[in-house]
Amino acid sequence: MTLPTLEDLRELGEARVLLRLDLNVPIHNGVVQDVTRVRAALPTLRWLDERVAVIAACSHLGKAKGVPDPAYSLEPVATVLEQELGRPVRFVPDCLGPERATAEPGSVLLLENLRFYPGEKANDEEFARRLAEPFSHFVNDAFGTAHRSHASVVGVAARFGTGRKAVGFLVEREVDALRRLISNPEQPFVAVVGGAKISTKTAPLEALVERVRTLLVGGGMANTMLLAQGISVGRSLVEPEMLDTCRAVLDRAAALGVDLHLPQDVVVTDDVEQPQRIEVRAVDDIPDDLMIVDLGPETRQRYADALAHAATVFWNGPMGVFEVDEFAAGTVAIARALAATDGFTVVGGGESVMAIHHAGVADQVSHVSTGGGASLQYLTAEALPAILALEE
Ligand code: 3PG
Ligand code: MG
Repeated sequence: MTLPTLEDLRELGEARVLLRLDLNVPIHNGVVQDVTRVRAALPTLRWLDERVAVIAACSHLGKAKGVPDPAYSLEPVATVLEQELGRPVRFVPDCLGPERATAEPGSVLLLENLRFYPGEKANDEEFARRLAEPFSHFVNDAFGTAHRSHASVVGVAARFGTGRKAVGFLVEREVDALRRLISNPEQPFVAVVGGAKISTKTAPLEALVERVRTLLVGGGMANTMLLAQGISVGRSLVEPEMLDTCRAVLDRAAALGVDLHLPQDVVVTDDVEQPQRIEVRAVDDIPDDLMIVDLGPETRQRYADALAHAATVFWNGPMGVFEVDEFAAGTVAIARALAATDGFTVVGGGESVMAIHHAGVADQVSHVSTGGGASLQYLTAEALPAILALEE
């Protein structure tokens, strides 16, 4: 099976191209807060703009419920796209609107949120047919959405033949980087996994244990793992229903000889929002009335040492309550340590990517993924629905 790329597209001169992007960006009061995903789309947009007649870019935004909802309109993104691209972009207020068929050659359109139709998430065949209808070609460059079996990434792909569908440069680059983690990653391969809940990352964690030499665990999920080892974690966030899963992961790591590290010292507090007490404690000395909110300084150092010797690194998920400045040090320490290694480093997931930018080291990481969920699923299943739908 091969994955067709832009160079495989044929008969582009009069092409009307449906371009699926992931422009699911944070918007506050109608203003786009982060342009990373818009910028990531530019190479494919520019390449197509030089060669085809009409580009109709489309995306989902937020958790729209299958009906139009102004809170989730992509209109503010059209403005940003226009600025970033440096040419007019026409916003189409309905992703199935007639403008798709009538737009003049030379037009770049941005269609309204795909999730304003229930057929998008349902991968409904009729919705896919109507979405694809006016177009001669389909390009998917929405890496962040590649783990979703939705109409605009899966159903639509089936409606275009050879030479008429491809992935864009972003998907190509993301897949290349993640493949390096799956097929014979250079050892030592060190993974850093954090985030609040182990329940949302069980499968990726289980998959990573099979691949890595060292696993560094932080964030809320480490609390449940500590609890599984009989350590009392005070008022920390835990998921008691995940204790068996934690034990299974710990046992599997031990059986494989994987170095699975949990925090040995932590930052604890009485209240995340209005902390009166902030202390560093060894994990066997956590007061009942306090909760873990970050890695302690010794653990930061130990994790940084493990990263210093890594040949391959994958990081997903913050090490603490990173959005509160007082509890960001562990996450920032990981970002810096990752930037400092000579190994091949990949970061995925909104908060870890934010931390990389926050620490000012994004340009020292080999690959910053635009898809947290998608990159985790690729590492877990070695496949993504949107990619499978385009393979030939
Ligand atoms: C993301 O930001 O995670 C992707 O755009 C997918 O969005 P979703 O989680 O709402 O499907
Ligand atoms: Mg998500």
